[in-house]
Amino acid sequence: MLPKPQEWDQFYAKFKAKSGLDLHLYKATQLQRRIVSMMEQRGAKSLEEFWAGLLAEKDGVVWFQDRLAINVSELFRNPEKYAEMESTILPNLLKQNKNLKIWSAGCSYGAEAHSIAAILCEKFPGNHRIIGTDIDQAALTQARAGEFSDADMKAVPKQYQKYFGRAAKGIVATPQLKKYLQFKTGNLLADRFESSFDLICCRNVVIYFTESAKSELYAKFLAALRPGGVLFVGSTERIFESEKLGYTQALPFFYQKPIEETKTWRNAS
Ligand SMILES: C[S@@+](CC[C@H](N)C(=O)[O-])C[C@H]1O[C@@H](n2cnc3c(N)ncnc32)[C@H](O)[C@@H]1O
Repeated sequence: MLPKPQEWDQFYAKFKAKSGLDLHLYKATQLQRRIVSMMEQRGAKSLEEFWAGLLAEKDGVVWFQDRLAINVSELFRNPEKYAEMESTILPNLLKQNKNLKIWSAGCSYGAEAHSIAAILCEKFPGNHRIIGTDIDQAALTQARAGEFSDADMKAVPKQYQKYFGRAAKGIVATPQLKKYLQFKTGNLLADRFESSFDLICCRNVVIYFTESAKSELYAKFLAALRPGGVLFVGSTERIFESEKLGYTQALPFFYQKPIEETKTWRNAS
């Protein structure tokens, strides 16, 4: 039998106390379906029994949190958007700031961060920093190791393939990329954010969040960008109230924090 609303509330409260993650901020239907499927796998008859089982294991709660997340990704996901980033977004950002501070928010196993590192390394070398954050510890471990599978490689443009070498474990990013990259734990729904980012990439993450959590996050991203900085969202995502929040649209799926009220990078040169 499916858990009752009150049982979900109790489970969410216990998990939040342990992990800091508020599951009320995720879309309920999808999330609860995933949790029920985990309960079934483990033979737990109630949320209470499921929680007790997680607590009884050394890394049970981390195991659960890692499985909550859908961390599908790939290098150069939507390659046409990376082409626009290379031809338009990065050159414009570099006119304002020669060393870029970039954030891959909800980075999963680091494919997005490594893709941007490859573009910077090849076309715009400098003292850039790319920070990747996620709540999924197993994904972060993989991101730090720079390990990918053959499937991750399918959209990598030819000129960037040299940054991903073949090793016994599969595909491994070359050390040239690693110098730009840093991966750490970060909860987008609770943390205070760093500031002065030139570029924030948050793609295919907010699809799991409630509408109000999404709006709050987009407002926090705006505050975390420096004037002129850009937010890059996923190819099925749109910020409906972008102007009301204070963004201008630089290109489809790229939103900019205005430099001044009337001056954007398109007419800034
Ligand atoms: C589908 S992946 C997206 C990966 C990459 N951005 C891309 O587009 O290929 C979604 C990621 O969001 C992460 N995530 C979910 N909730 C999060 C939260 N509250 N804070 C940070 N990351 C979160 C998941 O762990 C997962 O790795």
